[in-house]
Amino acid sequence: MAKVVLEKVYKSFPPRKGESVASAANTEMGQHRPTVERSRDTNVLRRINLTVADGEFMVLVGPSGCGKSTLMRLIAGLEPMTAGNIWVGDRLVNGLPPKARDIAMVFQNYALYPHMSVYDNIAFGLRRRSTRENNKSSNVSQMAENLLVGVTKKLPTRLRYLSDKERDVDERVTSVAQLLEIDTLLQRLPKQLSGGQRQRVSLGRAIARNPQVFLMDEPLSNLDAKLRTETRAQIVKLQRQLGTTTIYVTHDQTEAMTMGDRIAILDRGQLQQVAPPLELYNRPVNRFVAEFIGSPRMNFIPVEFHAPLLITNGEFRLTLPEYWGSVMQKYDGRTILLGIRPEHLILSVPANKNLPLQVELVENLGNETYLGAKLTDVNFQQTLLANHTVQVRVPPDKSVRLGEQLWFSLTPEKIYFFDPDTELAIYPKTSPSLPFENKH
Ligand SMILES: Nc1ncnc2c1ncn2[C@@H]1O[C@H](COP(=O)(O)OP(=O)(O)OP(=O)(O)O)[C@@H](O)[C@H]1O
Ligand SMILES: [Mg+2]
Repeated sequence: MAKVVLEKVYKSFPPRKGESVASAANTEMGQHRPTVERSRDTNVLRRINLTVADGEFMVLVGPSGCGKSTLMRLIAGLEPMTAGNIWVGDRLVNGLPPKARDIAMVFQNYALYPHMSVYDNIAFGLRRRSTRENNKSSNVSQMAENLLVGVTKKLPTRLRYLSDKERDVDERVTSVAQLLEIDTLLQRLPKQLSGGQRQRVSLGRAIARNPQVFLMDEPLSNLDAKLRTETRAQIVKLQRQLGTTTIYVTHDQTEAMTMGDRIAILDRGQLQQVAPPLELYNRPVNRFVAEFIGSPRMNFIPVEFHAPLLITNGEFRLTLPEYWGSVMQKYDGRTILLGIRPEHLILSVPANKNLPLQVELVENLGNETYLGAKLTDVNFQQTLLANHTVQVRVPPDKSVRLGEQLWFSLTPEKIYFFDPDTELAIYPKTSPSLPFENKH
């Protein structure tokens, strides 16, 4: 097994016809650019520094087009880097071809060989590898063995001659198939399998090679919800058993939060934060991470800050806990962004310190209900809050009518603030409770 180290990795593609090159200067962390400009961007990855520890399960997340697959392809050696270094274990692999890197990659569209049985699909990489090894020391006994294998190939299984090499392959295929619970399917062709079974064969092929590193690029995206949950658990269990360093790309919030030891968040080719799942949820470094982690996403509400501890907007006035004091003073009289997650807005009574919301959407999921609501108070309408949609969670037994006005209190220790210019999160130096004490 091995750690993977990425050092100042850059990747750019030549500009496509009719497209201009966006400069790296206006793409610094936290600055949001319009989507149109993003699509022209040819600097796909910028200054990626990441260390994945030996045996670690690292999840890589980010919006579509942010460079996740490109990064995986660079590590696998399928795409040349523009600049930077990649180490696998102690080896600098920059110039090495994919097959010399000892990395197995599972792609989203798991291409199995359609004319080969499940057994042969899993055995394929192993056979190729041992052929290469044997070629180096080709000798007469090897030729004799190959002859015996060839002559007995058409005989019933128990009469066939199995070379040492083939015996090793057989042991490996059988144990991997048992591990993935596909041992009863070994003689089938891929077209005779369900999507989930095919997915497991594809995983089996990667696992059988016993590589130093697994790269998995959205390997479950073709599965239905139930199979996805099952296979997710299976992958985590397998990874723990094998202890193979793994980088796993996903779009799925639940996968990201539950599978990884740590999550790396990528936006527009730059790493935003790398941390254990709960640290990302509790202590995001900037607005992007705060918005990306958590479902439904965090609400952002512009408010004015008045020293020493007051935030206002229209009729809404809330005094913050004391620990906000020193870090907030420089924002006196300025508008800043308040962040609050839907689960931290609590159904309450009319009061200035509470948010008045008019319900526009009710989504009852059975175990919980989410509301989409608008700030409706006359005074709010004249402020920055006008037309601002806020999502809140209410207990499932609470009956809510469309158009109804409800008041919500903000759980004080769950309030976030973001700098209006940099969009970096502002944290108090000390605080009595979560989320701010959840530091590693
Ligand atoms: N060969 C290429 N030539 C030019 N641009 C490319 C090439 N491959 C990828 N890109 C661009 O690089 C950016 C990142 O692509 P990538 O496939 O890494 O995104 P992703 O994060 O994997 O997205 P998704 O979640 O949709 O799979 C995209 O803007 C894409 O258009
Ligand atoms: Mg991709």
